[in-house]
Amino acid sequence: MLTKLSALLLLLAFQRLVSAVNFAWEETQLTKDDIGIFNSVAFADTAPAPSIPVDSNVNLAASNGRECKVGPWDAAWPTEAEWAAFNASVDGALIKTVPQGAVCYPNNPHFDEAACAAVVQATGHSGGIVVDPSNIVQPWTAGESCNITETPIGICSLGGFPVYIVNATTVKHVQLGVNFARNKEIRLVVKNTGHDFAGRSVGAGALSIWLHNLQGQTFMSDFSGSNYRGPAARIAGGTQGWQVYNFMADNNISIVAPSESTVAILGGFTAVGGHSSLTSYHGMGSDQALQLQVVTADGRFLQVDTDNNADIFFAMRGGGGSTYGIVTSAIVKAFPPLTLQTAKFVWSGSLDANFSSPDINPSTGAITVDKEVFWSGVREWIQFSRSVSSAGGIGFSYIEPPSSTFMGPAPGLFQMTASFILPGQTLEDATAFLEPFFSTMTQLGIPLTQSNTTTITSQAYNTRRTGEGDPVGQTRFSSRLFPRTNWEDPALFNATVQSIRAAVEDGGYTVNAIPYAPTEEVAGFPNDAVNPAFRETLMHAIAFDSASPVKDGRVLPAKVVNAAHTRLDSFVAAWRKLTPGSGAYMNEADMQEPEWQQSFFGDHYPQLLQIKRRRDPWGVFWAPTTPGSEVWAVVVPDGLPLQTGPLCRT
Ligand SMILES: Cc1cc2nc3c(=O)[nH]c(=O)nc-3n(C[C@H](O)[C@H](O)[C@H](O)COP(=O)(O)OP(=O)(O)OC[C@H]3O[C@@H](n4cnc5c(N)ncnc54)[C@H](O)[C@@H]3O)c2cc1C
Ligand SMILES: *[C@@H]1O[C@H](CO)[C@@H](O)[C@H](O)[C@H]1NC(C)=O
Ligand SMILES: *[C@@H]1O[C@H](CO)[C@@H](O)[C@H](O)[C@H]1NC(C)=O
Ligand SMILES: *[C@@H]1O[C@H](CO)[C@@H](O)[C@H](O)[C@H]1NC(C)=O
Ligand SMILES: *[C@@H]1O[C@H](CO)[C@@H](O)[C@H](O)[C@H]1NC(C)=O
Ligand SMILES: *[C@@H]1O[C@H](CO)[C@@H](O)[C@H](O)[C@H]1NC(C)=O
Ligand SMILES: *[C@@H]1O[C@H](CO)[C@@H](O)[C@H](O)[C@H]1NC(C)=O
Ligand SMILES: *[C@@H]1O[C@H](CO)[C@@H](O)[C@H](O)[C@H]1NC(C)=O
Repeated sequence: MLTKLSALLLLLAFQRLVSAVNFAWEETQLTKDDIGIFNSVAFADTAPAPSIPVDSNVNLAASNGRECKVGPWDAAWPTEAEWAAFNASVDGALIKTVPQGAVCYPNNPHFDEAACAAVVQATGHSGGIVVDPSNIVQPWTAGESCNITETPIGICSLGGFPVYIVNATTVKHVQLGVNFARNKEIRLVVKNTGHDFAGRSVGAGALSIWLHNLQGQTFMSDFSGSNYRGPAARIAGGTQGWQVYNFMADNNISIVAPSESTVAILGGFTAVGGHSSLTSYHGMGSDQALQLQVVTADGRFLQVDTDNNADIFFAMRGGGGSTYGIVTSAIVKAFPPLTLQTAKFVWSGSLDANFSSPDINPSTGAITVDKEVFWSGVREWIQFSRSVSSAGGIGFSYIEPPSSTFMGPAPGLFQMTASFILPGQTLEDATAFLEPFFSTMTQLGIPLTQSNTTTITSQAYNTRRTGEGDPVGQTRFSSRLFPRTNWEDPALFNATVQSIRAAVEDGGYTVNAIPYAPTEEVAGFPNDAVNPAFRETLMHAIAFDSASPVKDGRVLPAKVVNAAHTRLDSFVAAWRKLTPGSGAYMNEADMQEPEWQQSFFGDHYPQLLQIKRRRDPWGVFWAPTTPGSEVWAVVVPDGLPLQTGPLCRT
């Protein structure tokens, strides 16, 4: 319970004006003069209620009798004249959505054969999707409404893509987008790079704010905040991983950034956790932010840190993207440069029960062993990864069944493609450190050191990158964070390895096992909303279903998608059973995770829900499985988890 005094202080904090901005374009803020008589873009003048009990049954939407957010199918949708007035207010930055594939459809006014060929080529990698105002990496969540192909069937439609998009280049644009959506009760979505696996950056009938063009990075050798003094960096909201790596190289520093070059550093990465090669060394992405500049649901622009708006500072570091506000820029920790030692190894397991182990292919150096030896090697890799995490490193592996097309094992073979990444060690240190692992593997019958598929290489963490991004494909998966306790009891450890094996061998799923340990200690006790399960974890494991929810450019029938999901869930249910009270990483989890509030936010959930209700009583921000999202649902006829229908109160 808040005292009257602290409630008053909180209100004062809400009123506090922003003095510090990180970038020149953040000086351009919405004023009363800009609004004039155009009430559709006015700020919310309702002072947020200082404290709403967690269990009270408040409605998030202004209740004027409407059940759903207003869409183009409603009479209340703004007229062309209103959209034109809104466009004028944002300096002409309003885009009417044209799906990226529209150029491929002969029956579409945007048809352009050469442009289509270029788009087909570019969108094979994530970088070609990031630069589009509306497209996303998993377009099936938008209903696969505009298949990008040179041989399309049917028409290109909006599906779950937004109707209009603000191409924001100033804070004012972001404020105007938030105010217009709130005042008109239109669904608001926020697209940064569009990597979100669950369609959190699209929505049918929505107005989108596109953050891609909020750009800039500056280094501060000596930043001083209330609980941090040292090197830091100002980063703009639209900055992608590759830009951060290049910025690090320019300044001879390290910053915790996404491993995938085109994921935004200040989008879902900072808002929901963010893991990288440095997870066991410097903690999660969320743990790095020292200050955020934020446009809140009332349309105001706030400085957010431990001294200002501390409630959302807590929530916006781990407690969900597009939930409490829009980050236009941030100040994040910077560290000295680091070298990564990466040890890579591959081994395969034969289904042939009479296989004589090991077989080392003289021309490729590939090691094949029998199935039981294969799995004992996997067990040892998972076992040893605890020491790797304690030393500040991480593991990364794909464990594949013979049918997998992921890394593509040879027919009839299981395959383990694994690495350990050790930051801050020399090649000699790393070689000595890994010696016990290699020797145990040899004793088990997997003499990795005799194979030339095994290598240890040194590379600077801040090695330069490009914006091309990884190849993209659409798949469904489910995941779990396995806690330290699962390594401590030998029987539980065996059951853990057995449950991974079952998902691969009996389920036919490819498991991406990523051991790491972002403890409170390595994170520097950040007091943020990162899923508490991360603090205890020793391994994030994902089971990928090779059966895509899409075939030939169409989302498969609900019956097929749901049956595949139920089957996958039955294997991950076994993982959950072995890890009671743990959770999953929302950015890389089942989009239909059972009891997601506990799984994604743990004990922080009640507090996050309270902050959400206090800061966004209108329900301006909404994305699946974020705190407070349960009071709304996207209405889709066959119940698939898509963003193609209206957003309505539950
Ligand atoms: C190929 C691939 C590789 C990946 N690699 C990694 C990895 O190495 N490490 C890792 O941790 N995760 C990784 N992810 C997962 C990734 O972190 C999530 O998909 C994340 O949500 C992407 O955030 P985004 O802002 O780039 O994407 P978007 O889809 O644009 O946004 C994600 C969510 O955050 C909201 N949002 C975005 N920007 C802001 C903002 N400035 N303010 C408020 N809300 C915002 C959006 O509305 C949406 O809800 C990967 C995903 C893919 C597809
Ligand atoms: C917004 O205005 C600009 C500049 O006048 C124009 O180019 C653009 O097409 C307009 N957007 C919409 C959606 O009408
Ligand atoms: C989508 O594209 C694929 C090829 O990329 C094609 O086989 C399929 O027919 C297309 N489907 C539709 C609905 O356009
Ligand atoms: C977005 O705005 C920037 C800056 O004005 C402009 O260069 C860019 O072309 C715009 N993008 C689109 C898709 O309109
Ligand atoms: C980079 O920083 C490291 C440690 O902070 C320092 O030892 C090194 O000399 C620097 N390199 C350059 C090129 O400035
Ligand atoms: C394996 O060897 C045993 C004994 O030599 C033999 O009976 C069996 O048929 C063999 N199995 C396979 C799959 O070759
Ligand atoms: C692997 O090692 C063998 C033996 O040293 C060598 O002949 C072969 O060329 C190597 N293969 C590769 C792919 O490097
Ligand atoms: C766990 O598995 C290992 C290897 O298969 C075995 O040696 C050990 O006895 C098992 N331990 C328990 C407690 O089951």
